[in-house]
Amino acid sequence: MKVTLDGVPVMNGAGTVNAEALNASKAVVSLNGEKSAPRQRVTRTLNVSVIGTGYVGLVTGAILADQGSNVICVDNNPAKLEVIERGESPIYEPGLDKIIQSALRAGRLKTSGDLAAAVENSDVVYIAVGTPPSADGTPDLTAVIQVVNQIAPAIKKHITLVTKSTVPVGTGDLIENTLQDLGVDPNLVDVVSNPEFLREGSAVYDTFNPDRIVVGVNRPGAEIKLLELYGRYGCPILVTNRTSAELIKYASNSFLAVKISFINAISRICEQSGADVAEVAKGMGLDSRIGKQFLNAGLGWGGSCFPKDVQGLLKCAETTGYDFTMLKSAEDINNDQTSHFMSRLRDQLGTFEGKTIALLGLAFKPNTDDIRDAKALEIIDLLKAGGAKIRAYDPVAMPNMMEVHPDIEYKSGGQETVEGADAVILVTEWEEFKWLDFDLTASTMKGDLLFDGRRAFRREDVEKSGLRYFTIGV
Ligand SMILES: NC(=O)c1ccc[n+]([C@@H]2O[C@H](COP(=O)([O-])OP(=O)(O)OC[C@H]3O[C@@H](n4cnc5c(N)ncnc54)[C@H](O)[C@@H]3O)[C@@H](O)[C@H]2O)c1
Repeated sequence: MKVTLDGVPVMNGAGTVNAEALNASKAVVSLNGEKSAPRQRVTRTLNVSVIGTGYVGLVTGAILADQGSNVICVDNNPAKLEVIERGESPIYEPGLDKIIQSALRAGRLKTSGDLAAAVENSDVVYIAVGTPPSADGTPDLTAVIQVVNQIAPAIKKHITLVTKSTVPVGTGDLIENTLQDLGVDPNLVDVVSNPEFLREGSAVYDTFNPDRIVVGVNRPGAEIKLLELYGRYGCPILVTNRTSAELIKYASNSFLAVKISFINAISRICEQSGADVAEVAKGMGLDSRIGKQFLNAGLGWGGSCFPKDVQGLLKCAETTGYDFTMLKSAEDINNDQTSHFMSRLRDQLGTFEGKTIALLGLAFKPNTDDIRDAKALEIIDLLKAGGAKIRAYDPVAMPNMMEVHPDIEYKSGGQETVEGADAVILVTEWEEFKWLDFDLTASTMKGDLLFDGRRAFRREDVEKSGLRYFTIGV
């Protein structure tokens, strides 16, 4: 399958783009002279259900409603739905509440706990429930299959059933077979893979400005309703087969994770050799074949996606009989990165026992309240095991962390958190921490150690105040 530079799908070998079914506005010729299918225009209002109103589902549903579709967001957590109905976002995601409010006002966004009723009236049904890793790393598809079982009796007319959840290769086939076993007429359902690439913290921006859209189909024309929904985007739309689409998501996240692990491995060499990883990354990133993104050395990758998707791809490789040693190494490097950083802190302190450690930031990255697989969790475990007293502050993630660690001391601002601390660790590089007053910090701390896990501060700014500055890769 080819896509032109301006995002128009070109007929592939399997003929997956049905040009006739698209409304022509202009035919486009790609740079290599091939004629593309005509560009899609949105001509009708589609009814859409989004099952699972989390970071992915709610952003997807709210923005589709904002763009003119009639959307019902379904979730089995009524508390979340109540919050959305009030015009608020149950998750912290910049800009999302405003979109929810305007879509509610326009009457195009509704919420429901009644999955069957939502599906009965839908043209397109997105599955956006969680797929957490099970104990052995295999993605747990319990919620996805539960949703499929609930959807089946409600399918009375054709729907495009879209997996937006990150699901292992072959899940589309599994869903199709499950529906068939439940007696659903295969002609009434197209099971389509449409992996999501948004980033928490910039999910709204990313959804309005995708780099690419991937649509995986197993039947010619199955992509049509999605092309109608996505026709307004100027990005490449890759229509491919379903298993390739499923693998694209795992391969993309794993590749980015490998890139981060690579620079973190380089950071270890820097620490021993006198090189500075920031300079090395800068020099590497100026090569357009490498690019500067994802070359920031730090505490390593965390969050709800990279760790689980790396594990998912490793499992997928295992089932195909391939030993993906490179990816395993990337995971090993990542697993070691935070404990190595913390061992440097312990070396400076002598012991964690009885020391007061201030944590700035708890979320797995800035601009989100998500703490799933956050590096802060690893740091808190190490500090607790060592007998340290922990005080912490995060602009939005504290309520989530309080549920996991109610016993640490939470503060209401960065400056207050560092008071009386033996050492400060910058865990999440929230913008507001860049304004930390180092002189005040030095005068109110008990100790003088600032450990920067994200290379967010400038050494000279910190050291001017008399604090001792430690960071990664130098
Ligand atoms: N979070 C991200 O940045 C991101 C990015 C790309 C892809 N993904 C993938 O998208 C999927 C969803 O991720 P998320 O972060 O939005 O998860 P989430 O946990 O924030 O949201 C999942 C939602 O599904 C609901 N749910 C679970 N079971 C349900 C059921 N049977 N019926 C109705 N609702 C149900 C939950 O209550 C929750 O609101 C995952 O597969 C994830 O890997 C996530």
